[in-house]
Amino acid sequence: MKTEDNIQQEIDELVEILNRHCHRYYVLDAPEISDEDYDMLYNRLKDLELQSGYIRADSPTQRIGHKPLEKFQSLRHREPMYSLDNVFSVEELREFDKRICRLIDCRGDMQYAVEPKYDGLAVELTYVKGVLQRASTRGDGYVGEDITSNIKTLKTVPLSIKHLKIVPEEIDIRGEVYMDIADFNALNQERLSRGEAVFANPRNAAAGSVRQLDPSITALRRLQIACYGVGFFSTIELKTQQDLMQWLEEARLPTPLEFSVVSGIESVIDRVNYIQSKREGFPFQTDGVVIKVNDMSTQRRLGVKTREPRWAVAYKFPSHKAVTRIMNIQPSVGRTGKVTPIALLEPVRIGGVTVSRASLHNWDEVKRKDIRIGDLVVIERAGDVIPHLVEVLVHRRTGSEQVVEPPLRCPVCNSVTLRNPDEVALRCINMNCPAQAIERIRHFASKAAMDIEGLGIKTVELFYQNNLIRHFSDLFSLKKEDLEKLPGFGERSASRLIEAIESSKETTLARFLVSLGLPHLGEFASRLIAGHFQNIEDLYGIKAESFVELRQVGNKTARSLEEFFGSPENIEAIEKLKEIGLRLTNPDFQGLAEENAQTFVITGTHPVPRSEIKDMLQRAGFRVSESVSPKTDYLLAGEKAGSKLKRAKELGVKIIGYEDLKDIIEGMQKQLTGAKIAVKDNRLFD
Ligand code: IVH
Repeated sequence: MKTEDNIQQEIDELVEILNRHCHRYYVLDAPEISDEDYDMLYNRLKDLELQSGYIRADSPTQRIGHKPLEKFQSLRHREPMYSLDNVFSVEELREFDKRICRLIDCRGDMQYAVEPKYDGLAVELTYVKGVLQRASTRGDGYVGEDITSNIKTLKTVPLSIKHLKIVPEEIDIRGEVYMDIADFNALNQERLSRGEAVFANPRNAAAGSVRQLDPSITALRRLQIACYGVGFFSTIELKTQQDLMQWLEEARLPTPLEFSVVSGIESVIDRVNYIQSKREGFPFQTDGVVIKVNDMSTQRRLGVKTREPRWAVAYKFPSHKAVTRIMNIQPSVGRTGKVTPIALLEPVRIGGVTVSRASLHNWDEVKRKDIRIGDLVVIERAGDVIPHLVEVLVHRRTGSEQVVEPPLRCPVCNSVTLRNPDEVALRCINMNCPAQAIERIRHFASKAAMDIEGLGIKTVELFYQNNLIRHFSDLFSLKKEDLEKLPGFGERSASRLIEAIESSKETTLARFLVSLGLPHLGEFASRLIAGHFQNIEDLYGIKAESFVELRQVGNKTARSLEEFFGSPENIEAIEKLKEIGLRLTNPDFQGLAEENAQTFVITGTHPVPRSEIKDMLQRAGFRVSESVSPKTDYLLAGEKAGSKLKRAKELGVKIIGYEDLKDIIEGMQKQLTGAKIAVKDNRLFD
């Protein structure tokens, strides 16, 4: 029987292990253990907490499970959170530097910290005795809102910083909560499919997600944080921004990308230009660069003028917004028959790119925002964010603007359009609609799918109009002679395309799944499926229930696969493709090792490094875990084995030495090959 002390000790260990892995996974992007192992340790911790009632404030189980609030409580910042003065040119940056030197008579070049300005929502995190105690929004700079439960759902925010050599008694950290562009785009897609209003930009999405009364909603949004400042702190010493960055990293708090400290304003300007040249490649949205005096005592001497410190400034990039006119609103038909409104714009340059179209997403959105032909509108485009209509300038209307109604008929094939009661999308119901067929073929050939070089939308349209193709499988019967006759094709370009189509026949299962263009089956889900099913035939006749064990595959994806692979015509079509040379390899297949494998824990010292043993075991299909639990099959114990050996004995886990390893590996390899086949067969007929 475990004593209470034992349990508490194990809980302490688990909290420490899980928090460390969380940081490796989410902040450093360098996980050391599998998701399954993480879940196993997490569940063990949860059980122990339930059993003992001993729940630490920094336990990862405390990230979720808080009840919705009625309203936010107010929290006063111990030191005000200031805002920043903006500058828009390098001349103004030089003036900023000159002003500083006038004020404090600097000898030589001033040292500045330079980093991107994150476009999100400013927050303050308070750690007391190393535990995250409170979190608040900036509010009016003096009083903000208590968003502690919401911030705790951010996996990159450590709940504890007790691992530091010196744990500060108290510290207030400042940072920006933001959303990566890819997550923002995905969130908007999801909202559209549920018929909800889209967020105008990643900043609004981040702010809207943080300011949720129900933390379980915040938990579903992928929010990030970049910590860049400090308010009140005690016990530790921080003299410069650079010290602060180093401390934040040791504390496992995320810091701004491309942080640097440079001497003199000309070097600052170089850094600003460098960050500006890199910004399109950043995963997040940035609207400028923040420049701060590096030395904190100099910061204090310079002080604050009303609301902005004299020691810092934001250099703002030229805006990514522009005003233009909607020339027309046209319906466009996608591969699933979805009829989407597209605004054709008077072309306008935004951040070096000419924008002439913007998706208006769906007809509800057009109505909600009252978007009319002829309207002047504000368009925003940033990084990979799809050009987005931010605002209709209603006060600029002349009265000649035209309201558009959703089309009753498909603009391409003239079939009726329908709207399912549980959907926002309007669809063309004709499966043979040329627009749908063309879009399906284009999708089939696209980069993430079969990746047929040179087969873009224009070429697909050309082939379709010339009756060369009706379905993507027709691509494989195209002849060089057919293409040579078409406008824009010569002998060389025709044979190049035929070659590209030919070589696309050899592809991966994941790519082929993507190319089918099934609803709810994108790149991510396809890779996941390919990870678990070695051959496409394993999917024939599959039932949605078979995906239940693959936790990341959602119900809709499972139904979509069931429907497609349940149709004899579809299977016949795939078989035909195989006959004409389609060959699917599957490098994504991970086998059933992950699910069924036996688990090893390694402890003590061994004749070869632990990492090598771990490698060897994993290659043989075993799992290697960090801590001993009832699910552990073997403990590989070397010299100086300690608490893990003790626990393994308590739990009756098989204990082996390095010399036993070879036999076990060989034995398991044989078994595993057999097991895979048996389970696979079973699945075909369930
Ligand atoms: S420092 C007193 N650094 O920009 C200086 N702010 O426009 C306080 N922001 O309220 C701010 N990225 O929310 C700083 N790297 C960064 C920043 C940053 C974004 C935000 C912050 C601030 C606003 C001012």
